[in-house]
Amino acid sequence: MQFAVHVDLKPYNTFGLAATAQYFAKLSSVEQLSNLNTDAPVLVLGGGSNLLFRDNINGFVVKNEIMGIDLIREDADHVYVRAGAGENWHGFVEHCIANGWCGVENLALIPGCVGASPMQNIGAYGVEIKDVFHSLEAWHLQDKELHSFSLEDCAFGYRESVFKRKYKGQYIITHVTYRLRKTPEYHISYGAIQQELEHMGAQELSIRAVADAVISIRKSKLPDPAVIGNAGSFFKNPEIPAETFVALKLQFPDIIGYPTFSGMVKLAAGWLIERAGWKGYRKGDAGVHAKQALVLVNYGGATGDEIFHLSEEILHSINAQFGVQLEREVNIIP
Ligand code: FAD
Ligand code: EPU
Repeated sequence: MQFAVHVDLKPYNTFGLAATAQYFAKLSSVEQLSNLNTDAPVLVLGGGSNLLFRDNINGFVVKNEIMGIDLIREDADHVYVRAGAGENWHGFVEHCIANGWCGVENLALIPGCVGASPMQNIGAYGVEIKDVFHSLEAWHLQDKELHSFSLEDCAFGYRESVFKRKYKGQYIITHVTYRLRKTPEYHISYGAIQQELEHMGAQELSIRAVADAVISIRKSKLPDPAVIGNAGSFFKNPEIPAETFVALKLQFPDIIGYPTFSGMVKLAAGWLIERAGWKGYRKGDAGVHAKQALVLVNYGGATGDEIFHLSEEILHSINAQFGVQLEREVNIIP
């Protein structure tokens, strides 16, 4: 693997933040990994759509470009599809739809790469990657060998996995295998999918129609990183005990919360941030999106530190007003 020095990372993160990698290389095959001889920390990059660079990277940055999508096995009801970590996620979703493989249509248009999909168990419109995940292969940086992970090994939760916690920074995910259905099981009760399908005049329900509805909703709600720098939701939606929600609801009757399977209530952080007056706020080039308060944006010249400090202010303000502790979803680097 050939490393270039002092590489500008601006084209490699959707916030459009300026940062430099001391050493930078593109990884296109598993074989190249045995040449990665360093004990220094390695930052793996996919599409750079869920991270915030606060500073330059004094170490190694590896951009994962391992490609390939293969149908490796099938049974009566399922196909098992193995994809290289460098495949574009939305491209993978489109490939599945074109082949009639069902289960990822609700996850259309999420930016980034296949390799990052298990990192935070990506989710949208009632589906998470854990619902279609079969296994993954990952290179252990210290042991210099490939390990396999099953669904249970990954300990997926809401925007969580072992790779964000226990094994943080220890692995490079090289391939992910998904278990997809041959016949669809539709999830259209979440959000505005049903209304959007009607609006589109979809005559028949299909995975294509569901993906198109999701794409249309996402385009209307979320800022396009090609136009304005962002990394999607900056914070997670916080989960609070049901009795705390009841007390908050007395004080704020229009507060938005959804019961979870574990008996907690998941609050809409976007509502909290909007209610606290942050929606559309701008300080220099760092801001809170005018249409979606959960998304922090870079109007062009913001630094990672400026966006980070804005997020600190929001965290404190939400805690002071609602007694609720927000948690960042975006990975803060370093
Ligand atoms: P990166 O940002 O490159 O990396 C994210 C983290 O994963 C980093 O810590 C990185 O080191 C690590 N990583 C990446 N690849 C590997 C690998 N191969 N091996 C080991 N570690 C790796 N997310 C959702 O869940 N749902 C949404 O609906 C959603 N909507 C979004 C909308 C917009 C407009 C944007 C900008 C982002 C959105 N996101 C959403 C967040 C983001 O797209 C996902 O988290 C995505 O999976 C990140 O992929 P990436 O390849 O860009 O990861
Ligand atoms: N809301 C407000 N004000 C706002 C934003 C939202 O009141 O400024 C309210 C909405 O009216 C709605 C509720 O909050 O009633 C939820 O909003 P929305 O449906 O837009 O979803 P979200 O909770 O903001 C989550 C995910 C998204 C995912 C969508 C759809 C998290 C942190 N975010 O957003 O994921 O695409 O649901 O499933 O869970 C991401 O992770 O980057 C991401 C974009």
